[in-house]
Amino acid sequence: MNTVPTSAPVGDDRVVVHNPFDGAVLGHVPRHGPEDVDRACLAAQDMLDANLRGRIFPQHARAATLDRAAALLEAQSDAFARLISSEAAKPITAARGEVARCIDTLRFSAAEARSLVGEMVPMEASEPGAGRLGFALRVPLGVIAAITPFNFPLNLVAHKVAPAIAAGCPVVLKPAPQTPLTSLRFVALLEEAGMPDGWVQTLTDGGREAGEALVSHPVPRMVTFTGSVGVGWAIAAAAPKKRIALELGSNAPVIVTADADVDLVARKVRAGGFSYAGQSCISVQRVLVDRTVHAALRDALTLEVSQIVVGDPAAETTEVGPMISERETERLRGWIDDAAAAGATVLVGGKVDDGIMLPTVIDNPPADAALCRREAFGPVVVIIPFDTLDEAFAIANDTDFGLHASIFTDDLGVAMRAVRELDFGGVVVNDVPTVRVDQQPYGGVRDAGNTREGPAHTVREMTELRFVSLPLG
Ligand code: SIN
Repeated sequence: MNTVPTSAPVGDDRVVVHNPFDGAVLGHVPRHGPEDVDRACLAAQDMLDANLRGRIFPQHARAATLDRAAALLEAQSDAFARLISSEAAKPITAARGEVARCIDTLRFSAAEARSLVGEMVPMEASEPGAGRLGFALRVPLGVIAAITPFNFPLNLVAHKVAPAIAAGCPVVLKPAPQTPLTSLRFVALLEEAGMPDGWVQTLTDGGREAGEALVSHPVPRMVTFTGSVGVGWAIAAAAPKKRIALELGSNAPVIVTADADVDLVARKVRAGGFSYAGQSCISVQRVLVDRTVHAALRDALTLEVSQIVVGDPAAETTEVGPMISERETERLRGWIDDAAAAGATVLVGGKVDDGIMLPTVIDNPPADAALCRREAFGPVVVIIPFDTLDEAFAIANDTDFGLHASIFTDDLGVAMRAVRELDFGGVVVNDVPTVRVDQQPYGGVRDAGNTREGPAHTVREMTELRFVSLPLG
């Protein structure tokens, strides 16, 4: 059981969860303060101690639980997709895709739980080691504090919680305040699958105060955070002795060379730049195009984007719904207006209709526009022409973020040059940077983060090597 209540009391001290599309009330969750953070952390530590002493959740049970959770989620995928769609305003087809990916994340984590081993140390390779046996066990790092964003309220929770289960680490989970219901339902599903009640302690909306209390609490040995650049690096500064895993923002570039198929690029950018209203860290934001095909790409992309179906996320045909909040919508509208005032051309969109930021393509923004330099996290793509490949790589790399980049080219030499010279955590050839499979090492360089997520990688970050030396006798 969660040590702190997760169903909301009636009264003032509760938070209302809304559907961002129509404002419908979806539920209520408690507001958790610093005392709740303390109780949750201590309860998670008790779980860890109980497992170390009494093996209440051994490795084989952790693997079986993760596999059972995958099967349960498959059986409930429609209900989960509908919940994600309503609380995050994610188009239902994209929400189904997220559920399918989460099933993968659970299965890859189960495989890690089964194969987690340490390493042998060749003791006799040095004189002082002669006559001794040495090996290193992988032991759980400790309690993990996991802080997750609204944009993938299921799969990005799974990317932290499932490897923690594989590693043997209890979790204090603080999901995004906009999307707590999916997380609570997911934790209940894990318990149904066999995870001991209370292994994951969930804290719902407690604002900044609860977040700070969690990060600075002495119990968690690691804070894993996906979210904004500012908050991520503030966490790292506030907790210098903890292991900190950050997966932060981006303004992903796509390079389109002269030999690329512009119609294919336009179709790919339609999906990669506008799916879930661009609210993904690897959404296409900057399209850098060889000047010789600039006009062709501009026309093809304008046509594609003008055909995007906008509306209710629950409708099967909707590609773009509202952004997560009115505040974010207004922020992005301001950036678009600023770019237009500075001389950029709005090819399509550029305005808010009935609360929805329309899919927008901007041509030729000035290099210092917020739309070029910051993370838009919304349904907007900018087109920037270049004359040489050197210039394209320089523009692509001229960002504080380095998560994913991509290039469209028929020339293998150019593709390999991009792999060498683009300073990003991932480089995708002949597709958009939005491509992610859940077993890949996923993460960025520079301001974009300091970690690689993906069960095989995360599980290692959530364990410690404990060296053991025994006499050979
Ligand atoms: C993110 O927004 O960082 C996650 C993107 C994804 O998992 O596809």
